[in-house]
Amino acid sequence: MQFLDVCGLRRSVRFYKTWQPVERDKIQRILEVVRVATTCPGNLQPWRAVVVDATKLAPKDREMLLAADNYQGAHRTAPIWIYWFADPEDGKPQTFQKRVHQLMDVGALASCHGWTHDAIDASIEKGVRSPEGMPEIGGFLHNLPYEISVAVARGETIGACDVACLAAVNEGLGTCLHMIATVDKVAEVKKFLKVPDRWEAVWLQLLGYSAEEPEAGGQRPRLPFNEIFFEGEYGKPFPRDETVVNDLRKEGLLRAPAPKPERFEEIKHLARMFGFPV
Ligand SMILES: Cc1cc2nc3c(=O)[nH]c(=O)nc-3n(C[C@H](O)[C@H](O)[C@H](O)COP(=O)(O)O)c2cc1C
Repeated sequence: MQFLDVCGLRRSVRFYKTWQPVERDKIQRILEVVRVATTCPGNLQPWRAVVVDATKLAPKDREMLLAADNYQGAHRTAPIWIYWFADPEDGKPQTFQKRVHQLMDVGALASCHGWTHDAIDASIEKGVRSPEGMPEIGGFLHNLPYEISVAVARGETIGACDVACLAAVNEGLGTCLHMIATVDKVAEVKKFLKVPDRWEAVWLQLLGYSAEEPEAGGQRPRLPFNEIFFEGEYGKPFPRDETVVNDLRKEGLLRAPAPKPERFEEIKHLARMFGFPV
């Protein structure tokens, strides 16, 4: 699919075709996209994922994982559940140090901007000011408390989840992010998935063929462009050129807003089909 079509068609899908399995190659393709396309500071790459085929779960395990997410309707119909975690070890200054060395060694970070192995080591290990041209790494990484590494790992994994959602749409699949579990049930889910204790539960990504019409009832409400984007300073909206808007309509990014006229009828039919209360 074209990139703007992918962006314009991404919806949080809440009804999945329980009868249509997701091909394994499509799941792999999504994970491959996340690995390559997601960016993060210092190339930390703290994201981890455990893919669960819900159709193969023992009933008691399925029950436990659904209960952790309060039995949400979308969760019950999605055939694939991807559990996204963040590894705080990959949010630590030492990992930053290692990965930035690697970025220098492959020519991504250039010495003409001041990047040297010694400068990185001195800034991270001793808090020495970075040479001009480099970010002031020592100022924010030296003696960084572990809680900040946790927050960094989580934040970057959230970005990976967004990439995963777009990659899913590109494969013709529906997707939606949920919380993995309520706070009291996170430990049980982690234990079941056998993930290391230190991993932070981030989001659960539902995956499957959408049972909703392709536009899932239209594009969901968004804040007005001029209330969120500014030029030069806050209060001066970035001008929105109508020619660009019209081009983006033709190119598939901007589509009919929700609710499309037939949406509530569609939901009623979906509810009946899946046995949800109408
Ligand atoms: C991190 C995250 C968690 C979410 N959790 C839920 C959820 O538990 N249940 C649900 O129905 N939708 C959930 N959503 C979907 C949002 O409600 C949805 O993204 C929002 O309404 C905008 O709609 P759109 O994604 O279709 O554009 C979640 C979305 C994100 C990004």
